[in-house]
Parts: sequence; C-alpha cells; structure tokens
Amino acid sequence: MISISVKCFLRPRPYICCSRKDIKYMFNIILFGPPGSGKGTQSEKLIAAYGLIHLSTGDLLRSEIARQTPLGLEAKHIMDRGQLVPDEVVIGMISSALDANPASKGFLFDGFPRTVAQSEALDKLLHLKNTEIGVVLALEVSEEELVKRLLNRGLTSGRSDDNNEAVVRARIVEYHKKTSVVAEYYSQFKKVVHVRGEGTVTEIFDSLCSEIDKRLS
Ligand code: AP5
Ligand code: MG
Repeated sequence: MISISVKCFLRPRPYICCSRKDIKYMFNIILFGPPGSGKGTQSEKLIAAYGLIHLSTGDLLRSEIARQTPLGLEAKHIMDRGQLVPDEVVIGMISSALDANPASKGFLFDGFPRTVAQSEALDKLLHLKNTEIGVVLALEVSEEELVKRLLNRGLTSGRSDDNNEAVVRARIVEYHKKTSVVAEYYSQFKKVVHVRGEGTVTEIFDSLCSEIDKRLS
C-alpha cells in the first residue's frame, strides 16, 4: 500500500470512455454495504487519504432532523422504523450536494444509492458532469456481527434506529429487500469489488485502499 502522504496527491485519471471530449479527472467511489458494515468508519479514513468529498445520505438526513426541517420531521418517522425514505428525497439531496462541490476531485458515496432507481439517477447526474462511478466497494459482514455492532453503538450514539433490536433487524431486512440489488446493478458494468468487512478497522482500510490504488495506477 502506498503511504497516506502520497495518496493525498491523487493522480488524475481519465475514464476509459473515448467518446467523451470533456473528460473531467474525477474518481468517484460507492462504499456499499449493509447497516453497520463500517461505511461511515471507513469513509472518514478514505476521504482523508484521497481528498474526496464524503456524501452520506444518512448524515444529510440526520442533519435535517437535527434542524427540525419539514423534510427531517417526515424522514424521522421512516428512519425510526428502519425503512428507506423515498427515492426522490435522497436523489434531490445528492443532486444539490454534487452541484455544491463543482471542483471536487471525486465523491465518496456512503449509504447511497440504496435502490436501483437511485443508482440510475446517480449515473445520470454524474453523466451530466461528464464523470461516472469508478468503483463500488462492497463491505461484507455477517448479520450477527452487524446486529452486535449496531446495538453496541446504540448504547451511546443517541441514534434512535440503533437502540432497538427489532428496528436494527428491520434495517437489515430492508437492505436485503431493496438495496442488495444495487450491487447486481453495478456488477453488469464490472464495477463491484467485494471486500471483507470484518477484522480491524486498519486491516479493512488497507484492503479498500489496495482496491482503489489498483484503479488509480
Ligand atoms: P445510514 O445512516 O446510511 O445508516 P446505515 O446504512 O443503516 O448504516 P450505519 O450508518 O448505521 O452503519 P455504517 O455502515 O456506516 O457503519 P459504521 O461505520 O457507522 O442510514 C440511516 C437511515 O437513513 C436508513 O435506515 C434510511 O431510513 C435512511 N437513508 C439513508 N440513506 C438513504 C437512501 N439512500 N435512501 C433511502 N433512505 C436512506 O459502523 C457501525 C458500528 O460498528 C460503529 O459503532 C463502528 O464503530 C463499528 N465498527 C466499524 N468498523 C468496525 C470493525 N471493523 N470492527 C468492529 N466494529 C466496527
Ligand atoms: Mg453510516
């Protein structure tokens, strides 16, 4: 693995899509995985290492809830049941966030897309910016480990969707029902890499970096 300091000077890499004249040198990553698989934990380290913009729809929604906006109040009821908020809500949030960061070297999507409709919308939004998803890194963690991690975090996080085992399990069911197909969607473009999400945070980070570095070299 190359050192963090070298990674900070992320080399620009054109996409292998010769029909686009206006190639933007961005590298966009989807960090994919079920609730509790470590997306947020690893995102923090990856954005620091690669200079990407972190876009977490869960964090954006929790910010709306904290500010008690109408969107936040509506979303809270859905999130508290462990279900997904409507596609158009999260797609709108991501569209605004992309527009707000025109000079980004790339985006790290965490918890988005979560449905095929969201994936298709994201592809269109990125296409409008002459860029695309570089890789989908899919964290793999057993269900019992997910439940253990989330309930453990629920002891201190204050997240109302973490402190009730029925809700935690409902989130995982929702993932299998609506979100796991997102990996199949990106598999058709050969963009998905499965990464073991159990082990130490550093071990998992090293595996993720190794997959990213292969695509940047
Ligand atoms: P969101 O905030 O995205 O939550 P999530 O995907 O359910 O998962 P978490 O954020 O809880 O887990 P994570 O994978 O980030 O793991 P973390 O690093 O935190 O979504 C919340 C809700 O918002 C959804 O249920 C839905 O209602 C709504 N929503 C969000 N996006 C949406 C979308 N696109 N469409 C529709 N609705 C949407 O780690 C978890 C715990 O494990 C932590 O305590 C951490 O310290 C620990 N941990 C991490 N790594 C390790 C390790 N290697 N070993 C041991 N413990 C570890
Ligand atoms: Mg998260």
